[in-house]
Amino acid sequence: MRKTISFLFLLALCSTRCFAVEGMWLPQLLQALNEKDMKKAGMKISAADIYSINKSSLKDAIVSLGGFCTAEVISDKGLILTNHHCGFDAIQNHSSLTSNYIKDGFWAYNKDQELTNPGLTASFVIRIEEVTKAVLEGVTAAMNERERQSQADKNINGLKSTAKKEAWQDILIRPMFDGNKYFLFVTETYKDVRLVGAPPAAIGNFGKDTDNWMWPRHTGDFSMFRIYMGKDGRPAEYAADNVPYQPKRALKISLRGLKPGDFTMVMGFPGRTNEYLYSKAVQQIMDVLDPAKIGIREKALHILDGFMRRDEGIKIQYAAKYASIENAYKKWKGEVLGLKSKDAVGRKKAVESAFEKIVLSKSEQNIGYVNLLKNLEQAYTAIEPYAYARDYYNEISQKIEVFAIASQLSNLPRAIQKNGEGAFPALLAQAQAAADAFFKEYNATVDQKLMEVLMAMYVKDQPAANVSPYYKNLLAQHDNDHAKVAAALFSQSRLISPERVKTLLQGDAKTVSAAIMNDPALQLAADMQQAYLTNAGTKLAELQTNLNRLQRTYMQAQMDVFSSKTFYPDANSTLRLTYGNVKPYTPRDGVQYDCYTYLDGVMEKYKPGDYEFDVPAKLIELYNKKDFGAYGANGRQPVCFIASNHTTGGNSGSPALDANGNLVGLNFDRVWEGTMSDINYDPDICRNIMVDIRYVLFIVDKFAGAKNLIAEMTIVK
Ligand code: ARG
Ligand code: GLU
Repeated sequence: MRKTISFLFLLALCSTRCFAVEGMWLPQLLQALNEKDMKKAGMKISAADIYSINKSSLKDAIVSLGGFCTAEVISDKGLILTNHHCGFDAIQNHSSLTSNYIKDGFWAYNKDQELTNPGLTASFVIRIEEVTKAVLEGVTAAMNERERQSQADKNINGLKSTAKKEAWQDILIRPMFDGNKYFLFVTETYKDVRLVGAPPAAIGNFGKDTDNWMWPRHTGDFSMFRIYMGKDGRPAEYAADNVPYQPKRALKISLRGLKPGDFTMVMGFPGRTNEYLYSKAVQQIMDVLDPAKIGIREKALHILDGFMRRDEGIKIQYAAKYASIENAYKKWKGEVLGLKSKDAVGRKKAVESAFEKIVLSKSEQNIGYVNLLKNLEQAYTAIEPYAYARDYYNEISQKIEVFAIASQLSNLPRAIQKNGEGAFPALLAQAQAAADAFFKEYNATVDQKLMEVLMAMYVKDQPAANVSPYYKNLLAQHDNDHAKVAAALFSQSRLISPERVKTLLQGDAKTVSAAIMNDPALQLAADMQQAYLTNAGTKLAELQTNLNRLQRTYMQAQMDVFSSKTFYPDANSTLRLTYGNVKPYTPRDGVQYDCYTYLDGVMEKYKPGDYEFDVPAKLIELYNKKDFGAYGANGRQPVCFIASNHTTGGNSGSPALDANGNLVGLNFDRVWEGTMSDINYDPDICRNIMVDIRYVLFIVDKFAGAKNLIAEMTIVK
């Protein structure tokens, strides 16, 4: 009886949860795990067309860009496509007041005009293999976590030195399923990656923060680079006479566009997800950790916004910082909303009670799992105050900007202690360079206000025992007034302006070291860190170790107990494929969102001169003339579309492919209501947002006139 109930219960769960669209799949396992299902969903090619080690396949066109984004090869001369926000650093670095590529866009009309980007890399995955057995060789159940890890590390190092690869390739070994499995990746990294093209920010980041994480969307979030290789055809450092990379595979581009219901897949390097958490962990994120971070960022953003509105210079200086603080802030807000509205905790609890029933019914096989849920409950309850302290400390100490330069300069005395005074001149130059970079985007008045407001939050929200004694002392000396403390600190610290740092760095090694270490801003930062570590950090690390072990056991347990379900590993910046369908969604009662947006919507949002919604004159002209070339559809220019692909941060710049494996779009975001998909994917409201490839080519061709780039591509009509 019990068995039937739990089986039926699981079946009911399956109709909503075990659907094909959830999942970030390992490409080398598609044939075994997904091919049939993908064909059912509409795919017309085979798993071997996507991943093969014997012939060129789609995976050969997928690039890990700098380790933080995805890109894809779109010509046999190494041209790659990624997001505008992924190329933004490069675009910003090449920009000046006289050639402002952020504002005006940038286009190389021949290869000589392309711009180099030291440090930017492009990596390909050559081969993937499971190596669990070899990595866990000699690991026993009796080992504690540290022993286990050190045995695994030893095996990993052994594998790295013996695995088959070419001299210029690299080996990465990554844990999957919380360390229950390990996979080896042979990769190839190119180091000469040049900027080829980017639209103006008014296209590439149209709608900025207001539209970020939102649908309907109208952003042409793309930029283009080119990979270069040495004349010998191997990866090489930048050299003027390097030649364009010759890919094993370049994506073909389809201008046919998709319709609601059509199959689509996204391949790329998703960063991090947590799909197999215990219910209490989800509740903690939703009720404690996300709200703490949201609260702090809300205050910080409010302060920044106030200054940025009043001062044009501050607005430019803080634009990138503001965008990055706002990006995660808005994501977390959406995450909390989605977790609540879809009762993620209730869902997890239902899974857990099904789990419990099966474990108890088959006690021999699952004997080790009998107390698992209870132990997880205890472990998450125990860790909560420490996890809260960690997130709180991290957020506060990262938002008060002077702490960042304090931490960088504190390297100098430490390095002198380690390497002797002979290293002083070089270290001094490093410190000066760090300071120069820091002050380009720094305003002390803004930072003083951040310190005042955020330290007040810190004192109010943290248990008194966690608060830095140094700060308490300062408060006592200044009438318990956070504004007065901040004012005093900013008047005394020599870390808050380029001029003061210059005087700080004057003198011999001893004088400079002492001046740095005695600076009140650095003292406060160091004392806060100390207070955090003593009262929370050390204990947290201990509890986390225990929790990691429990979570690993729970992961294995879920795979054992729900043995008919196909599991995918959480994202960990390794190559994955996700598939789904172009699909509308209903965010709220009575509201339904369409799958496509058009240039008409850009014009609807247009606010002349606005910081977020201005539109370039040339684009308005093209719109008025309906001059869409080959890229329009029924007299309109498609811009963005959504689908049920399961993506996350790091999937930015990933190609959206159609049923034939042709490029139809470029992934760049998710819808706000569905950002909880990192923890709880829900097919009703989780959608990824892509810019239609026809909009990309329309901008390259019609807007920028870069026909040289179009000519390189293979377009299937
Ligand atoms: N939300 C997207 C991501 O997580 C886009 C961020 C860049 N755009 C922006 N307006 N901040 O990266
Ligand atoms: N914009 C994100 C990125 O940079 C992708 C959006 C998401 O998190 O899904 O990777």
